[in-house]
Amino acid sequence: MTETYRFEEEEFKGTFSGQVGLRILAQVKPYYIQVIGFVIAIGLVSFLDSYFTYLHKRIVDEGIGTGNFTVLKEILLQYGGLIVIQALAVFVFIYFAGVLGERVQYDLRKKMFAQLQKLSLSYYNKTPVGWIMSRVSSDSQRVAELITWGFLDIVWGVLNIMTATYFMITINWRLGLIVFAIIPVLIVVAAQFKKKIIGEYRQVRKINSKITGSYNENITGVRVTKAFSREAQNMAEFGILTDEMYKAGFRAAWLSALFLPIVMGISALALGAVIWYGGLQAEIGGISIGGIQAFISYITFMIWPIQDLARVYAEMQRSIASAERIFSLLDSTPQIVDLPNSIVHDSMSGDIHFKNVSFYYDEDDDMVLENFDLDVKQGETIALVGPTGGGKSTIVNLLCRFFEPRDGNILINYRDYTSYTLDSIQSQIGIVLQTPHLFSGSIEDNIRYGKLDATSEEIINASKLAGAHEFISTLEDGYKEEVGEGGSLLSVGQKQLISLARAVLRKPDIFIMDEATSSVDTITETLIQQGMENLMDNRTSFIIAHRLSTIRKADRILFIKDGKIAESGSHHELLRQKGLYYRLYTQQFRQDMAHKLGTLSLALSRD
Ligand SMILES: Nc1ncnc2c1ncn2[C@@H]1O[C@H](COP(=O)(O)OP(=O)(O)O)[C@@H](O)[C@H]1O
Ligand SMILES: [Mg+2]
Repeated sequence: MTETYRFEEEEFKGTFSGQVGLRILAQVKPYYIQVIGFVIAIGLVSFLDSYFTYLHKRIVDEGIGTGNFTVLKEILLQYGGLIVIQALAVFVFIYFAGVLGERVQYDLRKKMFAQLQKLSLSYYNKTPVGWIMSRVSSDSQRVAELITWGFLDIVWGVLNIMTATYFMITINWRLGLIVFAIIPVLIVVAAQFKKKIIGEYRQVRKINSKITGSYNENITGVRVTKAFSREAQNMAEFGILTDEMYKAGFRAAWLSALFLPIVMGISALALGAVIWYGGLQAEIGGISIGGIQAFISYITFMIWPIQDLARVYAEMQRSIASAERIFSLLDSTPQIVDLPNSIVHDSMSGDIHFKNVSFYYDEDDDMVLENFDLDVKQGETIALVGPTGGGKSTIVNLLCRFFEPRDGNILINYRDYTSYTLDSIQSQIGIVLQTPHLFSGSIEDNIRYGKLDATSEEIINASKLAGAHEFISTLEDGYKEEVGEGGSLLSVGQKQLISLARAVLRKPDIFIMDEATSSVDTITETLIQQGMENLMDNRTSFIIAHRLSTIRKADRILFIKDGKIAESGSHHELLRQKGLYYRLYTQQFRQDMAHKLGTLSLALSRD
């Protein structure tokens, strides 16, 4: 069976709660000067927009209406000057919005990155990497957008309504009040629609994720489905889901389509009222032609942000859900932390004891280790072999304190290892894994991770011991050669040799190798093996290897099966026992021989 997908995303509703709002505001606090500049600039743009409409009125009434060219010229001059000012204000707010967005995004990413480094491996165990990646990239972007463009939409909309109302009341207060009375109606209608539409879309999304889940289940379980002839029933269940989704989607589309005509209808009513009442007022000289025209402009001016409200609100909700997810990441507490009284210790040499250790990865998982005991002498080389899933990696993960025992203790030099700081332990462990990880940079940089103040000479010596020097010398730029992102320009074997050199340079007290030779060719394997032997001198080592030739020289071989030590002893002792190790060894030996004979006969037949 494939690994089950344990992670269930919590539902982040994205309703605007004060707490999230305050935390978002706190992100902006350091940039309050930009925020103030931003708001002032928007205010200016919005005010000038309304004022231009007012100038139109004056052009019609005072300039064209009376044929007074001096007034006309004066108004046009004013108009021209203000347009330049408005253009400047537009430049300022776009610039501030950009700066603000970038800064906030940068801050959030930095915080998340720091947090991700603090979290223990168990967090990554439960949380898919894809989820984390999208928190860092798209969610931080969305929050930054909320703070800039979302905020802009709101401030602009509100200011447009305020300035338009102000000018309408200046022109004719009675008519102004009539129009102003329509705004609450529009807002209520828009809000109702928005609620319904968003509700339907949320329903669609929910069903959609159920459908995805059911896809998953049906695909991974397709053999079971076939074996039990459940196809028809699965199809029927699937049909119900898609049907529900179609209906909810249909309702959402219907409501969205209805929304605009209704808003337009209401604004048409407002326009009608203006023309009718304005006409009456015009007859008694209460309003000019230019005034009525200005009113019509102001109404469109006000309707536009209200009509847009639904979109802005939906976007805001999405951004707030993003913010909630980011904060949930920032709030998650690392499960493995230094205990209050833990000590810094610069050596981890000494005997190692696993005492009654029990461990499972997640609450609802089976025990991987149960009452596991192991005593290792300082300097001993322990090899762990056995079937996949037996618990070999888990044992070394615990020793590295990537995870901690759920029960029982691990002692290093007769002290519970949780009494040391994490860094004391991890800085004294050299580890080479099956999939070596390199960072982009040069080979030298990558080896230097083992010891940050190492000289070039130390690096070359370490590489020679690790068996990496030879291949590095053949590279065009030698130690300065770039490895590419994640070491993509090198082969697995070469990466393995580099991570081995890194471990050699570190001179750790404890050395761990987990299947480091499983995906390399035999020549590289021999190199790694030699490097390894150089490294294992005098230090406690744990070697997990698929190929048994690698581990024959170990002081003690443990056959790990179902989280237990099934057999323990030296290579020869275990062969004599004729048990599990014997079977594994002879099987592999036969395979190797067959392989060698195969190549040999192939070579012979070629001649
Ligand atoms: N990160 C993990 N999260 C959950 N379960 C895990 C994890 N790693 C290993 N396991 C489970 O723990 C058991 C032991 O695995 P592991 O220690 O990797 O064995 P080995 O290294 O001997 O192949 C297996 O059942 C495996 O599925
Ligand atoms: Mg393993």
